[in-house]
Amino acid sequence: MSDIRALGYVRVSATDLDAWRAFAFETIGFAEGSGPEEDALYLRMDERRARLVLVPGDVDRVEAVGWEAGDHLALARVERAVEAAGVAVKPLTPEVLEVRGVEAGIAFEAPGGTPVEVFHGARLDHSPLATPYGNRFVASELGLGHVVVPVDEPDAAHTFYSEVLGFRSRGAFAFPGPPGAPIARIRFMGVNPRHHSLAIMPSPDLHAPALVHVMVECETLDEVGRALDRVTGAGYHLSSTLGRHTNDKMVSFYVRTPGGWDLEVGCEGTLVDDAVYSAEEITADSYWGHQWDFTGR
Ligand SMILES: [Fe+2]
Repeated sequence: MSDIRALGYVRVSATDLDAWRAFAFETIGFAEGSGPEEDALYLRMDERRARLVLVPGDVDRVEAVGWEAGDHLALARVERAVEAAGVAVKPLTPEVLEVRGVEAGIAFEAPGGTPVEVFHGARLDHSPLATPYGNRFVASELGLGHVVVPVDEPDAAHTFYSEVLGFRSRGAFAFPGPPGAPIARIRFMGVNPRHHSLAIMPSPDLHAPALVHVMVECETLDEVGRALDRVTGAGYHLSSTLGRHTNDKMVSFYVRTPGGWDLEVGCEGTLVDDAVYSAEEITADSYWGHQWDFTGR
């Protein structure tokens, strides 16, 4: 079992917070969360005060992928493991801890340049979750959802996340690279029964937003369908049509966010039982649907 239990939060700098406000609250259906930064947008999904945080910036770029450790001892073990791997670790300052709403945490750069934080002791918000459409998310102990990041050295990234951070392999999707190049594999990795909380995407492009997509899970197919109606009605770019993935069984669509990366909105994600699960290679990403349209990039 990994000392990391779930994807806790994702912080992203954003150039157009007004666009984000309309997208997040009116279209997707996040609840407004809370936090100490007056000019930030806090997107709430469960009893955490925010899961996605948009902060104003000159560029649209991932600022922190926050992984949750089980407790202070687990955090200390993660810190020792990352340092032993030769990666520089910084403790989060009291000011940053206050902003994140956690008791303690560390920061370091993961392969591919992903800014990673590991924390424990998230502060809860016990007020009712006031989503705009009465919709509910599958989060809590399964975490925010999943995040997909680009990596330029996929084997090194896979080794780091599995051997240093303790992520479990949850299979791969192979695709042919350029002529003469070896086959590349998107690798899926999990830290709890959610099929994957992380995927690492081989890519030579590590530039902003340095984030491929974030997935959030709704409780019901009807909530996904209604979100899709709002997305298409408001004219957002649909990066992928509705479909069902072969690995996590998620029925989902992908919409281009105002930040230039995609948000996957899904439901019916499968739960993995590690007692019987083996990492497998899928040969198609979907059973049906998921027609991709990359013109919105
Ligand atoms: Fe996904």
